[in-house]
Amino acid sequence: MPTRVYSCALIGLDGVIVEVEVDRGRSPGGMVIVGLPDASVQESRERVSSALRNSGFSMPRPRLTVNLAPAAVRKAGPVYDLPIALGVLMATGQLAPDLLDDALVVGELALDGRVRHVRGALPIAAAARAHGFRRLFLPAEDAPQAALIPDLEVYPVPTLADLVAHLQGLRPLQPHPPVDLSELPPPRGQVDMADIKGQEHAKRALEIAAAGGHNLLMVGPPGAGKTLLARALAGILPRMTVEEALDVTRIYSVADKLPPDTPLITWRPFRAPHHTISHAGLVGGGNWPQPGEISLAHRGVLFLDELPEFSPRVLEVLRQPMEDKVVTISRAQGSVTYPANFMLVAAMNPCPCGHYGDPVHACTCSPSAIHRYRRRISGPLLDRIDLHVEVPRVDYEKLGDHRRGEPSAVIQERVEAARARQRRRFQGTPLTSNADMGPREIEAYCRLDVAGEHLMQQAARQMGLTARGYHRVLKVARTIADLEGSEAIQAHHLAEALQYRTRWEV
Ligand SMILES: Nc1ncnc2c1ncn2[C@@H]1O[C@H](COP(=O)(O)OP(=O)(O)OP(=O)(O)O)[C@@H](O)[C@H]1O
Ligand SMILES: [Mg+2]
Repeated sequence: MPTRVYSCALIGLDGVIVEVEVDRGRSPGGMVIVGLPDASVQESRERVSSALRNSGFSMPRPRLTVNLAPAAVRKAGPVYDLPIALGVLMATGQLAPDLLDDALVVGELALDGRVRHVRGALPIAAAARAHGFRRLFLPAEDAPQAALIPDLEVYPVPTLADLVAHLQGLRPLQPHPPVDLSELPPPRGQVDMADIKGQEHAKRALEIAAAGGHNLLMVGPPGAGKTLLARALAGILPRMTVEEALDVTRIYSVADKLPPDTPLITWRPFRAPHHTISHAGLVGGGNWPQPGEISLAHRGVLFLDELPEFSPRVLEVLRQPMEDKVVTISRAQGSVTYPANFMLVAAMNPCPCGHYGDPVHACTCSPSAIHRYRRRISGPLLDRIDLHVEVPRVDYEKLGDHRRGEPSAVIQERVEAARARQRRRFQGTPLTSNADMGPREIEAYCRLDVAGEHLMQQAARQMGLTARGYHRVLKVARTIADLEGSEAIQAHHLAEALQYRTRWEV
């Protein structure tokens, strides 16, 4: 009779249950692994044999057939080492065959029998619970992550021998205590808004962006503080809900990018990839498609500093995920979809020399050079940016001023309150913020009064507002009203929103 141990494969962000069957033949012949394993799984044979021998077990001579089922699911990586080793022990009579029927087992084996880290512990634990498993055995360092999933006994396994002793009732392992997922901590930025002098207009734009989840572009001369402002944004973002935190953590778990000792990502991500980033690095890719920066920025901020330096081809691929909030990566073996609902924050100079429009420094660029420079940012991309803000140089007097501005924590509370209104508004829908609104929701939630209608008509005439520009202004005005705690959009909300429309109307 073949023996069976349950394990788990990762397809995108989902765990898929895999049965590891081991059958003992009569003739000698070593171990064969079948069931769509890739090269990395084939290497399990050597690791499992060594780990068994070095843990004091015997590696039998007869042929062992290891089948990973279902065969239709591609298996990759070393996660099956530990379940294969247990299957071999059962098939060869060194361990009773029925000790693991309610358990899921994952882990890479070192040659001396230690159990090594695997990626994706969180989705693996979620799959275990969803399929009714009671226990999960996994590498000790991955247990804190798995313990985020309730109603599952999570056992950290230091070595193969420890797990066998536990199963035999000789030396019980202690399950990891369940993690209490109550309130998450408030956000923190690398820079506090209070330390940035002046720039009230830009700070206000950042507050609106954070409150409504709006994309934002900052344009200004070198040294004006654009990068500084973006870094301060992280500290005024709304807290994540526990569900959002689990969502984000799942992506980091699969990408194997969780910082050490951080089982749960509790702050909204702030990703600032360099402009030399590749297409695959940004949207995701690889043989086994891994999440890219846009997915690592899910529920947080993707900051593209020096926007025109990014290759136009790389920027163009942002358009689809910015619309759909997900990205699908297709490969011969099938396609995977990763979430990518991020806030885009970009910064750039107004022209190649950086001083266009600066009252102090003369710009040395020719009009055609400025045109070429700006054309690197395509119309459709600009069109997805709700807030366009100019960040001028700060005067010396202001920089020398020692009075502190408003601290991030105070701004963050206003942002939080505005988000709470939006959560109530969009309850029961997939929308999380005003920026997510489509034409239908704009119609429903962005009604204008007579004064507002009048102002909009005037603006449309004078500023040549396009239909898309019109919707953008309404969404921003909705957020400004939410920041003020007003259910109605009033004329002064609209008037402020109109200031943030893009200067290069597309
Ligand atoms: N408003 C400000 N308050 C305090 N310090 C500032 C301010 N603006 C700029 N600085 C100082 O100037 C430095 C440069 O600012 P920053 O890097 O943000 O400029 P930038 O606008 O991103 O410029 P570039 O276009 O060259 O990237 C900051 O590290 C900070 O020390
Ligand atoms: Mg900068």
